[in-house]
Amino acid sequence: MARVIAIANQKGGVGKTTTAISLGAALRELGHRVLLVDMDSQGTLSIALGVHGIKRTIYDVLRDVEMGIEEILITTDTMCELAPSNIHLAGAEVELINEPGREFILKGKLASIDKTYDYILLDCPPSLGVLTLNAFTAAGEVLIPVQAHYLAFRGMQQLLNTISKVKGRLNPSLEVMGILPTFYDRRTRHSREVVEQLREHYGEKVINIPIPATIKFADTTTAGESILTYASSSPAATAYRKLAKEVLNGKENKRR
Ligand SMILES: Nc1ncnc2c1ncn2[C@@H]1O[C@H](COP(=O)(O)OP(=O)(O)OP(=O)(O)O)[C@@H](O)[C@H]1O
Ligand SMILES: [Mg+2]
Repeated sequence: MARVIAIANQKGGVGKTTTAISLGAALRELGHRVLLVDMDSQGTLSIALGVHGIKRTIYDVLRDVEMGIEEILITTDTMCELAPSNIHLAGAEVELINEPGREFILKGKLASIDKTYDYILLDCPPSLGVLTLNAFTAAGEVLIPVQAHYLAFRGMQQLLNTISKVKGRLNPSLEVMGILPTFYDRRTRHSREVVEQLREHYGEKVINIPIPATIKFADTTTAGESILTYASSSPAATAYRKLAKEVLNGKENKRR
């Protein structure tokens, strides 16, 4: 059974997609079967994996009762397998409003590939709309990247409230895996202070593996690689490898 992890924060540009790619690559490096699902109409994850101009996407799977997610999966040579997205997915937020059981659609679609993968990572959009709710309903865990900047706390309470409502109403087994500090600059007191404050507020939920701020992440996208191959021995690659081990050590009972 796959462990399904939603990577979410309604704040934009905090490193959700980068974490999906890098953690996915690190889990793959350890020999696990990994699927990345692009739940964002920006399609950043798909583009970063070199997937352009695709006709059928996760949008079609969510809209068409008959269509299985297998029909859209793309195997990439260098990176993880992908369920792609593009701008069409933007329509889904509105179009699904009147769908019965709209929060459960993704969960239903993932059921058929549950045994094909060890890990399914859901890259959420920067909003708490119906697509993110679908991810929270399908997942066992939520990983929350936050920038180690002074605005890190903005929206965090709203996000945690949404997760707890989903747990109460839609998905009792949902847990917060952890809060992952990103864009961490260990040379600045500011970065360190933000992580300390996060710990004061959220205790052990804060993962003790801050992801360093580095321009290399921007370069990986143009190179069409993950940080693990692009800069294999960099501190950033090392951090994501550590995160993968932490995820592995995280409870076996998180498997669905
Ligand atoms: N640790 C980091 N250090 C420096 N740059 C980073 C880091 N993580 C991500 N980036 C860069 O910051 C930008 C935003 O990252 P990313 O797309 O992963 O964020 P996101 O949360 O998925 O954004 P969105 O909310 O738009 O989906 C990208 O250009 C990425 O390369
Ligand atoms: Mg993103």
